[in-house]
Amino acid sequence: MTRYEFLKSLGFTGAALMAALTSCVKEEDTYVPVTRIDASTVTPVTPVVPATPTTNINSITNPILKIDLATSSLKTVGAYIIQSNIVVAQVSVGAYAAVTNLCSHEPKRQVIFSQGEFYCTAHGARFDLKGVGLNSTGRSGIAAYKVATDGKILVVY
Ligand code: FES
Repeated sequence: MTRYEFLKSLGFTGAALMAALTSCVKEEDTYVPVTRIDASTVTPVTPVVPATPTTNINSITNPILKIDLATSSLKTVGAYIIQSNIVVAQVSVGAYAAVTNLCSHEPKRQVIFSQGEFYCTAHGARFDLKGVGLNSTGRSGIAAYKVATDGKILVVY
């Protein structure tokens, strides 16, 4: 059933139908027809994961940041800090991700970590843990950094 048919079934007609059809449409909205898929033919998709933590932090020659996890605010999943214009977040237990806080939509340093992704508070650009844009405002993506930790020190490089 299309949106038009659904609204007609609810009794919308004329101007009310047109108003309902044109309201609540966002730039990101797309129409995707429902299709039945044979699950046996689906190839698993590799999930987006943060840079892989490693214990060999001493081999990193040019670290950008070194963060003492014992004294930082990165103690819980979802916590983040902004240091030297880099947003560093604990994205899952013991796993971290780091991106620039400079948004690619406009040059505003308003990128934070929120609800499992990076987010610009200026106009709502969204980025995954690797800085890839997740909506039209964030389509250009942002720079992401590698991270490594030995469980005590987190290195961004
Ligand atoms: S400046 Fe970040 S969304 Fe516009």
